[in-house]
Amino acid sequence: MKKTAFILLVFIAQFSVAQENVVYPIIPQPNYLQATGGTFALSDTTTIVANENSFEAQYLKSYLEKNYDLHVKIDSHYPPFKNFILLLNAIENNATQLDQESYQLKVTKKGVTITAVGSAGLFYGIESLIQLLPVEKSKNLNVACLQISDWPRYTWRGMHLDCSRHFFTKDEVKKYIDYLAMYKFNTFHWHLTDDQGWRIEIKQYPLLTSVGGQRNQTLIGKPSKNDKYDGKAYGGFYTQEDVKEIVAYATERHITIVPEIEMPGHSLAALAGYPQYSCTGGPFKTYTTWGVSDDVYCAGNDSTYTFIENILTEVFDLFPGKYVHIGGDECPKERWKECPKCKKRMADEHLKDENELQSYFVTRIEKFVNSKGKQIVGWDEILDGGLAPNATVMSWRGTQGGIAAAKQNHYVVMTPGKPCYFDHYQSKAKDREPLAIGGFNPLDSVYNYDPTPKSLSVTEQQYILGAQGNVWTEYITDFSKVEYMSLPRMCALSEVVWTKPENKNYSNFIARLKMNSKILDRMNANYAKLFTLQK
Ligand code: ACM
Ligand code: ZN
Repeated sequence: MKKTAFILLVFIAQFSVAQENVVYPIIPQPNYLQATGGTFALSDTTTIVANENSFEAQYLKSYLEKNYDLHVKIDSHYPPFKNFILLLNAIENNATQLDQESYQLKVTKKGVTITAVGSAGLFYGIESLIQLLPVEKSKNLNVACLQISDWPRYTWRGMHLDCSRHFFTKDEVKKYIDYLAMYKFNTFHWHLTDDQGWRIEIKQYPLLTSVGGQRNQTLIGKPSKNDKYDGKAYGGFYTQEDVKEIVAYATERHITIVPEIEMPGHSLAALAGYPQYSCTGGPFKTYTTWGVSDDVYCAGNDSTYTFIENILTEVFDLFPGKYVHIGGDECPKERWKECPKCKKRMADEHLKDENELQSYFVTRIEKFVNSKGKQIVGWDEILDGGLAPNATVMSWRGTQGGIAAAKQNHYVVMTPGKPCYFDHYQSKAKDREPLAIGGFNPLDSVYNYDPTPKSLSVTEQQYILGAQGNVWTEYITDFSKVEYMSLPRMCALSEVVWTKPENKNYSNFIARLKMNSKILDRMNANYAKLFTLQK
């Protein structure tokens, strides 16, 4: 920590001149950037100086091949005097996560040097370099000489994707991860189960996917008095091999996947396969409409907990990260009120109401999760009836849940519906927009969000891990619409979670976004183009 702080201080002292007017198309905006004049020409004869099996070196090499037809070599020897890209990874024991993610990028006429404590920092330095390259193919890619010293504001820089309501293929999920990587997000919250579909193979319970992974048909449009269905069977799931491949892909890109396995509500697809873990015994069908099913896991039945624990054991084998998201949101209590087993549980455990029963449920699961060395995250309803002792809270019904949790010394991820739900409209001209769930979260409202509430004391503010954008997919039927709803709002959020507030500027962001969007064009991203009309 100390050494890194020292390096950063040297940079700050040397280059403390504020960001000038020239626009460098890096998103998120680096925290210190100083132009030094001149250009470096990257070409076929450039050498990446790095360990040959460094993923970061390979990543840069293949990026140059794929996008520019430039064939550079990787060499582990000391850099030649010119025409090099030197990747220096100074491993340091006891470095914090923020240290590991920091980097320095120096471009001179002779070459490029990226220095970092951890490989994550090297990766982010490469992402910044990539965004500085001209987008047009050329045998000489001229890069402006400059010095950057950069580190993130928050440790949780998240994007979520709901793959239950609609299913996205392995390659589409990887493409989503590519966007996250480009904008230096480090957390992918993968919503894998819900009333409308169970999307992860669990070997011990094959009916989760063969029954719960399918639905007979899907509601057309929004629920109304005259519901119409499409009459088409819909389904899909990720095999454990798919999951391993996606986790490996994300891990290489320094992205941790937080799988979400919903409980005790949003569980109808699971109960369609295994109705014995409900209060009534079923039978059930995977939900074909939107909204929330009243049938949920029975909290009075011990075998429900065994079922969930067995599922989580398989999940833990697939996901190396420390967090599992257990949902906890929007659990109707109707069935619990009538169920003899749930009522007995409440009496035996001296629980005064169904909220306390939910708290009992979550706390019992947390105990199991902690015993496996993992931590739970839950939506802010897990505050109702009392927080499980070690839970991290994801604040979605506004920020008050996050504030309450931080005041109780619990970690918090801020994802308030306004402005962090990217399934909401981004323009007031709704008739010209694809159908969305509602709301209005335009690009500037995302950009101007500050995840750290002023009402918290400095000590309490330390519990805010960061923020996340959520992409719920009831009305997002294909991946090109995922891109439309998440881009460029994801770009704005990346700056919220990375850049110090004093280094942010919306009009400068729009200028950079216009340049950066050429990379999105090259990726064939179907991003929303409203910002192209802004000054
Ligand atoms: C949620 O949007 N139900 C977390
Ligand atoms: Zn019950």
